[in-house]
Order: sequence, then C-alpha cells, then structure tokens
Amino acid sequence: MNSTEIRKWSSGKAIELSSKLEKPSPFYFGYDIEESFISQLEKYSFDKIFFFTEPHLFELYGKNIYKKIQEKFPCHLEFIPPGEKCKYFPILEEMCENLILKGASKKSILLAFGGGTVGNVVGLAAGLIYRGIRFIEIPTTMMAQTDSTLSNKQAVNGKNGKNHFGLYHAPIFIWADTKYLKTEPLLYRRSGIIEGIKNGFISDPNFLDYLEKALNPHANFSDDELTELAYRIIVSKLEILKRDPSEKGYGIILEYGHTFGHAIEWLEEGKMSHGESVSFGMKIAAELAREMGLISQKDVDRHYYLIEDKLGFNNPFPEHITADRLIDAMIADNKKTGEELRFVILEKIGKCYNPQGDYLVTVDSQVVKKVLNNFIEGQLNKRSSQTYEFLRVA
Ligand SMILES: NC(=O)c1ccc[n+]([C@@H]2O[C@H](COP(=O)([O-])OP(=O)(O)OC[C@H]3O[C@@H](n4cnc5c(N)ncnc54)[C@H](O)[C@@H]3O)[C@@H](O)[C@H]2O)c1
Repeated sequence: MNSTEIRKWSSGKAIELSSKLEKPSPFYFGYDIEESFISQLEKYSFDKIFFFTEPHLFELYGKNIYKKIQEKFPCHLEFIPPGEKCKYFPILEEMCENLILKGASKKSILLAFGGGTVGNVVGLAAGLIYRGIRFIEIPTTMMAQTDSTLSNKQAVNGKNGKNHFGLYHAPIFIWADTKYLKTEPLLYRRSGIIEGIKNGFISDPNFLDYLEKALNPHANFSDDELTELAYRIIVSKLEILKRDPSEKGYGIILEYGHTFGHAIEWLEEGKMSHGESVSFGMKIAAELAREMGLISQKDVDRHYYLIEDKLGFNNPFPEHITADRLIDAMIADNKKTGEELRFVILEKIGKCYNPQGDYLVTVDSQVVKKVLNNFIEGQLNKRSSQTYEFLRVA
C-alpha cells in the first residue's frame, strides 16, 4: 500500500497491534468495535469492575458499554471531573479511598473510559491501590488513542509542574474505538494530531509527506480518514518504541518540543491544551536547531506550514510569556534532570541530533534566550498583522 492510500476500515472489526513496551499490553484498534469488547473482557477473571468516566462522556458513549458490562459482571460507576481538573492529588486520594470503601480488592479491575487525563489518573490509582491492581483503558481522544496509552506512564500534576507524581503501570489491554473520535472537540483533536506531526519530524519524513496531504486546517475527516490517521500516528510511535521501549535512550526523542511545551502549558495555568503548547514548543525547537546551524530556514518553515496552515494551530503566542519566565519555568520543570537546559533538537528532517550519545542536548541559556526573544518578537509582529481564530480551553 502506498503512503497516501486510505484503507477501507470495516465497521465492527478490531485489529490487534503490539505496543512493543517492556510490558506490552494488547492494543485493540478499529472503528465501531464496541460489540466485541465483552468477549475480550471475559478472558479475565475478576470480582468486580470500577468504571471511571466523565459525566458527559458517559451520556455520549459510556452508558452503552457500561450497560453491557453490568449485564454480565458486578460493575460500579464512578464519575470524575472533566479534563485536566482530575489530575490532582485531592481527586486521586478521594478515588482511592472510595475504592477501598466500596470493596475494591486485589481481584478488581479499574476501567478508564475517556481521554488522556482519565487514563492517567485511573492508571495511577490502579498502580497505587494494594501496590498495584489491574486496569483497562478505553481511550476516547486522538491523544489518548495514539499517544498516552502507548507509554504506560501514569501521573498527576503537582503544585510546581505537570506530571510530577506518577509511576509506570501497564493496562491489561487497551480498546481503541475510533468511533468515539468523531465528537472530540476540535482543539483536542488537533492536540492529538500534533504528536503525530512530531513523530514525522523526529523519525519519518515519509510520514510528514502523508500528513501534508491528509491534514486540513479544520481537522475535518471522514470516518475512514480519521481511523487511517489515528492508525498511522500509532504506528509512527510504535516504530520509535520498538527501538527503545523504555523511552530513556533513543525514545527520549518523543520529547521533541516538550521542554518548551511543558513550560508554556504550565505558565498558561490550564488555559492552553497540552498539544497546543507542544505546537509552540516544536516551532521554537526548530528555530533553535536553525540557530545552532543544524537545519535550514526551509526546514523551519515546514514546521510552521504543517502546524499552522495544515493543522490550523495558529493562535498568537501568549503575551505574558517572556523569554525569562519561560527559561525559569523550564529550569523548575527540569528539577528531575538538573539545572541545565536540555532539549531534543533536529539534525535534519526525520533525524535527531545526538552529539555525545545523548539525544537530550544541553544548550547555553544565552542561545536559548536569543532564540526565544526572536520567536516572541516574530509572534508580536504576526499579532499586529493577522486576525486569529481564538480557540482556547474553556
Ligand atoms: N502518559 C503519557 O505518556 C501522556 C502522553 C500524552 C498526554 N498525556 C496527558 O494526557 C492529557 C491530555 O489528554 P487528552 O488530550 O485526551 O485530553 P482530555 O482527557 O483532557 O480530554 C479533552 C476534553 O475532551 C473531552 N472528551 C474526551 N473524549 C471525548 C469524545 N470522544 N467526545 C467528546 N468529548 C470528549 C473531555 O471531556 C475533555 O474535556 C494531559 O494531561 C497529558 O499530560 C499523557
């Protein structure tokens, strides 16, 4: 099959992919595959299931699958606050204490039905209770189906940064039905796709060619196109994980744009999505690579073209974020790795720079500051000459 062809995704047929992780979880993927979920669940022995979701997701899709589970097994419904609001200690603590009160045992299974946030907090609760019980993920967003469920990383946010408290805990299986993606808010759909664009820049120029043809600024797709896009993003990440399932050596390239991105997301205090923050992070990382003489202006322009013109992420950079604030936030977020500023940097399209056997490259803070100041100035000029579509997290 050539790089631009779209498969016929037949309704109701689940295919199995391998996540290639240290503890690989079976990953079932397809369009409208809900009917076969129960037969997969029946393969496991357990005393009860705790079904975690957000109220509006339950109304949209969750209640069908919940009803099917409840007809066969003891199943408790548990609601958690929507989006990033659930990724904090008080919510995690309440979830864990409630589970104990409601009789969760080592034989119970938690089920996370929702986006990356639901998966992260439920995965962390499952990893903590009795030092770890089983859990299942049914991801309902592009980000969760193509990225977060493929890493086994579970976390909540701290007072000083995102994902500061967590652990690795693998679900017993992942059930990704692309039917759910149809109603995902545009902002989040774009946020999921940005990680796919990232995978192309760091490892696969052919994938970028496909994305250039497949994407449109309204992120509007037919069912087959959306399923094909999700499938190809998943495969692009699996190719990287195959070489380094632990994401500590080669796999660290998946952090491209994330050092800047996490700091922007943090400074925006929840007003900007993870994906949009990473989209700014990738543009800045491209500018940094050009400043270091590694990539050309044409390569930098390709970032802007794909992110802004093809994906439609073209909001202005937040006015209150200065180069100094961003550098301070990056240093604070980097406590785990030290005070130096370290980034994944492109050597060319499809390949990351690895000067001393380490894909996280230390860059002098003055160089970073110069790049940031130029970037921010460029954004200010853009602000005064363009009208933007304002899409912000409510
Ligand atoms: N563990 C990892 O390796 C990893 C990787 C990437 C992202 N993440 C985390 O994932 C989170 C972001 O996940 P996300 O992008 O899925 O966002 P999300 O979970 O916040 O969901 C986004 C919004 O979409 C709504 N929603 C979800 N599915 C829907 C559907 N099918 N139809 C309509 N509305 C729907 C939710 O209610 C929410 O308001 C962040 O906290 C990020 O840190 C983790």
